[in-house]
Amino acid sequence: MTTLSTLPKVMKAAVVDAAGPPEAIHIKEVPIPALPSNHVLIALEYVGVGIWDAEQRAGSWGSVKPGTIMGADGSGTIAAVGSHVTRFRVGDRVYSYSYGNGGFYAQYVSVPADRVAPVPAHLDMKIAGGMPCIALTAQSGLETLKVTRGQTVLVFGASGGVGSCAVWLGSEKGATVVGTARPEAQEYVRSLGAAHTIDPNSSEREGAIKRAAKDGFDAALVTADSNALASFFSHLKPKAPIAFPNGVEPEPRFSGHPASAFDGAMSHEAFEKLNAAISTRTLPLRVQVFSFQDVAAAHRRIEEGHVVGKIVLHIDL
Ligand SMILES: NC(=O)c1ccc[n+]([C@@H]2O[C@H](COP(=O)([O-])OP(=O)(O)OC[C@H]3O[C@@H](n4cnc5c(N)ncnc54)[C@H](OP(=O)(O)O)[C@@H]3O)[C@@H](O)[C@H]2O)c1
Repeated sequence: MTTLSTLPKVMKAAVVDAAGPPEAIHIKEVPIPALPSNHVLIALEYVGVGIWDAEQRAGSWGSVKPGTIMGADGSGTIAAVGSHVTRFRVGDRVYSYSYGNGGFYAQYVSVPADRVAPVPAHLDMKIAGGMPCIALTAQSGLETLKVTRGQTVLVFGASGGVGSCAVWLGSEKGATVVGTARPEAQEYVRSLGAAHTIDPNSSEREGAIKRAAKDGFDAALVTADSNALASFFSHLKPKAPIAFPNGVEPEPRFSGHPASAFDGAMSHEAFEKLNAAISTRTLPLRVQVFSFQDVAAAHRRIEEGHVVGKIVLHIDL
């Protein structure tokens, strides 16, 4: 094991002891997590806040184990390397997505090394902290749909986290992306590469869809349920596929079209593909930064809805 010589024994973490409102989260001192031989310890800088964190905290998934540290992704620097890990060195700038054994709302997290990747040199650590879960999920979605150059792809819910990354990755692949967004978020969605944006709640929706996708959609990636979905799905080409991340409920379905659920991949291979897609490009993901001590406010904000881009916590203690 290689470690920073200054590694402390304890750290600050945002902990939940029982399901409750945002104020149920409190920052306290806890031991530094253990470092199994295949893990790395990351000194975190920015961590992602997702609606799934708020659902977990509120008890929507059942009771909350005392001492739970939420958070599934973030960016930072390697502080220690397990004895079997060869790919990383102390001090490397990295980002990670590790759902399930996460615990990113903290100064340090211990995660399997294959769920970690170097942050591309030009990528801002704020953006890197907010994007692993949503970008790897968007990437899985586009792969599920087998999106290729020249296709016309609908991203329904394009202003949110997964949607933002799907628009950017889809247009980088050479697809013509049509994204849905409220009027105030449409310029942002176009800045990500969408060729067209449509307000899903507009009375002009039908005409806008016909103009944006004259021959229909080749595929649809759906990040939210809505009464408007059927009118978009009615413009899918025959047998064109629909895909949605697990968590979108009720599951979007449309007769005559295959619909698949998917999860964000947490593997080394998935991160390699993502880093290749980013390469030297700029990902203009909008991030709203909350100080670590304002973690309850970050949860209140995400529960209000209509977040454009992604919320991140700055581990600024
Ligand atoms: N299985 C996985 O691996 C995985 C990973 C990540 C996320 N997810 C799931 O994927 C979903 C999206 O996550 P996210 O982080 O991208 O969420 P998000 O940031 O809240 O984005 C949701 C998007 O859908 C839009 N939207 C919401 N309600 C709508 C409605 N009624 N009509 C039209 N548009 C609507 C939102 O825009 P407005 O609200 O402004 O209209 C926004 O653009 C969630 O269910 C999450 O749990 C699953």
